[in-house]
Amino acid sequence: MNAPRHFLTLLDLTPAELDGLIQRAIELKRRHRAGECYEPLKNKTLGMVFEKSSTRTRVAFETAMTHFGGHAIFLSPRDTQLGRGEPIEDSARVLSRMVDLIMVRTFEHEKLELFAAHSSVPVINALTDRFHPCQLLADIQTYHEHRGPIAGRTVAWIGDGNNMCHSYINAARQFRFRLRIATPEGYEPEAAVLEGAAGADITLLRDPLEAARDADLIVTDVWASMGQEDEQHQRREAFAPYQVNARIMAAARPDALFMHCLPAHRGEEVTTEVIDGPQSVVWDEAENRLHAQKALLEFLHRESG
Ligand code: CP
Ligand code: NVA
Repeated sequence: MNAPRHFLTLLDLTPAELDGLIQRAIELKRRHRAGECYEPLKNKTLGMVFEKSSTRTRVAFETAMTHFGGHAIFLSPRDTQLGRGEPIEDSARVLSRMVDLIMVRTFEHEKLELFAAHSSVPVINALTDRFHPCQLLADIQTYHEHRGPIAGRTVAWIGDGNNMCHSYINAARQFRFRLRIATPEGYEPEAAVLEGAAGADITLLRDPLEAARDADLIVTDVWASMGQEDEQHQRREAFAPYQVNARIMAAARPDALFMHCLPAHRGEEVTTEVIDGPQSVVWDEAENRLHAQKALLEFLHRESG
């Protein structure tokens, strides 16, 4: 048994490994569509610790394990001892004695790091307040399928400097694309995350139109993430000029794509016209969570076997 490889951020894998995962996700999607049965995780179990809500992440991981011949266990704080205060270290030690892989969706990123430090099997970040790397695998796969490699392209992130924005910063470095980020004042991404991606071509802007100009991909996310429900009102005011609408899309290249990790709020961060329009690839993006996470599970299991 090798030391487990974890996937807490995109920086845990090398650029070559990440490129390989994207190619593998595309291949696994093709094989699944062709009706091929492929069960590399037969009799294996994925533990899924969810401290926040989820539709896509949960269904993608659970379905991935079914396709792979394994099993997934949904664990919520409402009915596990983790929710009654059992230490994270103890929970990680115990769960990893039984299951083969673990994914965790939680609030503080440090909690995930603590969990991983005490797990004897691979731990996957299924979203924390700081990062959402699984979503980026699906986004990069989606871009690749529609337009070819993302390396050398220009991506505009418009909105909050949140967990998704942080993962786009890491992705800009690992997948070698140019990233322009437009946020309102006070909602910029963390300086430490930007420092971690030093060397990448990243520009922070205030003007969303400037960020969108000639971009190949426009991305946004909700204005108030999970855990920020109390700030919703004040955020709505600050973010109003950052809505992705027809004017923003018109500033981008004519063949630019639009992505959103979902769930979306039509009429807030994006107009109905854009998200349901011809440049939007959000449904492919959502589906690709399944294929990209299958590639990830296969990779981490093989690397740690
Ligand atoms: N995009 C995403 O992670 O969706 P869920 O919150 O539904 O898992
Ligand atoms: N930034 C959002 C992403 C949801 C998938 C959140 O953290 O709620």
